[in-house]
Parts: sequence; structure tokens; C-alpha cells
Amino acid sequence: MALLAVEELTRRFGGIVAVDDVSLDVGEGEIVGLIGPNGAGKTTVFNLITRLYRPDNGEIVFDRRSLLRTPAHGIVRRGIARTFQNVELFGSMTVLEHVLIGRHARRGRRAREILGYVGLAALAHRSARELSFGAQKRVELARALASGPRLLLLDEPAGGLNHEEVGELGALIRRMRQDFELTILLVEHHMQLVMGVADRVHVLDFGRRIASGTPGEVQNDAAVIEAYLGTNA
Ligand SMILES: Nc1ncnc2c1ncn2[C@@H]1O[C@H](COP(=O)(O)OP(=O)(O)O)[C@@H](O)[C@H]1O
Ligand SMILES: [Mg+2]
Repeated sequence: MALLAVEELTRRFGGIVAVDDVSLDVGEGEIVGLIGPNGAGKTTVFNLITRLYRPDNGEIVFDRRSLLRTPAHGIVRRGIARTFQNVELFGSMTVLEHVLIGRHARRGRRAREILGYVGLAALAHRSARELSFGAQKRVELARALASGPRLLLLDEPAGGLNHEEVGELGALIRRMRQDFELTILLVEHHMQLVMGVADRVHVLDFGRRIASGTPGEVQNDAAVIEAYLGTNA
């Protein structure tokens, strides 16, 4: 039984079918990659799961219950946390304050413990706007962890990071799964990172799921290769 099951999900924006009849699953304890060229619908899938958008069709089941009856503000309580492709922090708030507001009783840990875990202890009292982009991304991660999620949705966590930071991130993602007993759905363009950490990968192209499998399987899938070659990426 999957922890998260997306079933025949569709979302249109005007004439664009951003997510087109997509089904995918994430098993408890898995790290699953969600990849695809720009505009493939990856972020929209996250926005549908977190109830920022309403689907035109389809179902999303989390922990055996529909998410479609859960409002956006109830998502954290259901045990789902996310980070954003474009970091969304409050510039004047400190690092520690961000983690304190992310805190949630059920599986939440002490804010300072989490800051130490993601390597931000020394920056606890700095305001978000003073931080490097890489540090801001770790604040988002800390805020998400502080809510004690079962499912963590990461939207391009490696975006804007340098080579060394990407390597550290891969190790951190694996460690977090273990230490926080997480299930992780990872949207990422950095192929080396995804293929290195994911147990399985789902591939979207123009809103449709074109492949699913182990990293080795999808990398050798003809439709996947064509989707990426078609973008000259
Ligand atoms: N709020 C929105 N309004 C209009 N179009 C949108 C909106 N969100 C996404 N789209 C469109 O849906 C498609 C998929 O976008 P997105 O999910 O952001 O792709 P990805 O994250 O894979 O790059 C794109 O064509 C995008 O322009
Ligand atoms: Mg996106």
C-alpha cells in the first residue's frame, strides 16, 4: 500500500493541460524522483498535493485517506511538508523564527536541534534576507522538518547550489530519510543527484507520465531520452 497515491490527476490552466491524467505512487520510506523537462507539470503536481490548486479530475490518497477533503492549511497536520522551487521565506524573520513557526507537536523536534542538523546553528539569529541562497534553502528544509512530516516534497532543492553543495545535499537527503523516518518525493533537474538518491523515478513530459522505474530503467527508456533530447537540455 502506497503512502501517497496520485490517481488519474488532471489540472488545466486555460488551454494548457499542466497535469494530464497522471497516476503515480510513493511507498512508505521511499525516496522517489519526479523529473521531466521544464513545464512538464512537476511543480503543479506538488501544488495539487498540497492543495494550493484544485484538480479538474482525479484523486490523491495519502495514508489511505483522500487529500481532496483536506484544505491547504490542513496539509501540515496530515503530515506533509514541502520546500519551494523559488525559496519562500519571510525576509525580516530570523532563521530560528522560521523553524519555530514550522514546528508541529506530533513528530516535531526542538527547533535548535533541527537547525544544528541542517548546519544552520550559527545562523539562528540572522534574518533570512541576509543569507546566501544555499543557506535560505536549508532554512526551508529546516522549517519543513520542524513540522514533523511523514512525507517531504522537495522542489528542485539543488537549484542554484554549487557542485560541492549538491554533493552535501544528496547525503543530507539520505540521512534525513533515516533520521526523521521520512518518505520523500523529489523534483530535481540535477540528474546525478536524483539518480544517486532515488529508489524509483517517475518521469513527466507535457503533463503526462511517460515512464516510471528504477533510475537505471528510466535513464535507458527511449521515451525519456527523447523527451530530454527534444528540449536540447
Ligand atoms: N498558476 C498557473 N497559471 C497558469 N499556468 C500555469 C500555472 N502553473 C503552472 N502553469 C503552467 O503549467 C505547465 C506546467 O508548469 P509547472 O508545473 O510549473 O512545470 P515544471 O515544474 O515541471 O517546470 C506550464 O506550462 C506552466 O506554464
Ligand atoms: Mg517546477
